Amino acid sequence: MKLKVHGAGSIGNHFSHAARSLGWSVDLVDIDAKALERTRRDIFPGRYGKWDEAIRLIETSQAPKGGYDMIVIGTPPDVHMSLALAAVEEKPRAVIVEKPLCGPNLAGAQELADKAKAAGVAVFVGYDHVVGRASRLAGDTAVSGGIAPFATLDVEFREHWGGIFSAHPWLAGPWETYLGFWQRGGGASGEHSHAANLWQHFAHVLGAGRVVEVQATLDFVKDDRVDYDRLCLMLFRTESGLVGRCVQDVVTQPPRKWARIQGVNGFVEWQCGREPGVDAVTAHLPGRIASETRISKTRADDFIEELRHIEQALAGDPADSPIALSRGLDTMLVIAAAHLSHKTGRRIRIDYSQGWTPSALAVL
Ligand SMILES: NC(=O)c1ccc[n+]([C@@H]2O[C@H](COP(=O)([O-])OP(=O)(O)OC[C@H]3O[C@@H](n4cnc5c(N)ncnc54)[C@H](O)[C@@H]3O)[C@@H](O)[C@H]2O)c1
Repeated sequence: MKLKVHGAGSIGNHFSHAARSLGWSVDLVDIDAKALERTRRDIFPGRYGKWDEAIRLIETSQAPKGGYDMIVIGTPPDVHMSLALAAVEEKPRAVIVEKPLCGPNLAGAQELADKAKAAGVAVFVGYDHVVGRASRLAGDTAVSGGIAPFATLDVEFREHWGGIFSAHPWLAGPWETYLGFWQRGGGASGEHSHAANLWQHFAHVLGAGRVVEVQATLDFVKDDRVDYDRLCLMLFRTESGLVGRCVQDVVTQPPRKWARIQGVNGFVEWQCGREPGVDAVTAHLPGRIASETRISKTRADDFIEELRHIEQALAGDPADSPIALSRGLDTMLVIAAAHLSHKTGRRIRIDYSQGWTPSALAVL
């Protein structure tokens, strides 16, 4: 497998390391020569012990085009769409675009879906939690454990973003990056959109369908340097009528990344990072003693698992993957609906027949 990664930042290093762990070849590309040097000198050796000389570091203007099996877009969200469209034109087997796919204005969303389909290129989105072992176990247990009918679903990704800034010591604060700007895919609504995506994923697993109604309240921080939501509270209703709650914030510490699938006859909880390096799935099933399954993993494992998942998905029908492009685009629609709901003070209906465009959103 031959991989090209755009963006030699935090995520670009994770993917490069994961691909090398699987024995793949890696070209790591960045517009900024300083970022390439930082990768070789600091980020990669700091995380994984030593620099891997087999990784080719290339400035964007010199980057080869064509001949790759997979292309990863690991840049800030405001350039995801243009890079993803260019990557599709190179016709790799797969393109992986980091989350959030785009900004809440949905620019480029439908065009990417159309062009990827026309080119026959499978596109995946970096919502890696839904392909992790813990979320698979939680979903399977909820479905097979006898807790149905399902009463509600709750997901929270509440995490102060100090951790992100300590992983990016070259950034002085949110004003120096997309994180400080909601329209560029930052703020809690964009950065922690893993939560909305996991909510939607579990709704699919439970047979509840897509989210068709969104009601949201956001809390914005706006001054002469930044304009972002620090808190994004969302209520969802799905096609089947399942109602639940989703919370994303960049203020809570210690962090809590948690989900609960509540059935009439019991519940299943998922927690990421219950302790350092441990995810946990708790099950209270009818007629059974309550149980907790602990899943040990490292952050590096998450990305190895994601690449393995994509390799397997390519061997079958990639559209069936929980990280298929359509799932990531559905999440962008929900985030766009949350912003519109906050702005109008009304519930928003999503009409999927209008495509992944702003016209899919109707104010109720
Ligand atoms: N799935 C996850 O769990 C996860 C974790 C971290 C980050 N991310 C996502 O990954 C993306 C990048 O985040 P990060 O923390 O790695 O950012 P970062 O700032 O550490 O790195 C981004 C890099 O992209 C480079 N870049 C900018 N424009 C480019 C272009 N046009 N071509 C090539 N390179 C370009 C920058 O110079 C920078 O080096 C974001 O969308 C973020 O949300 C996802």
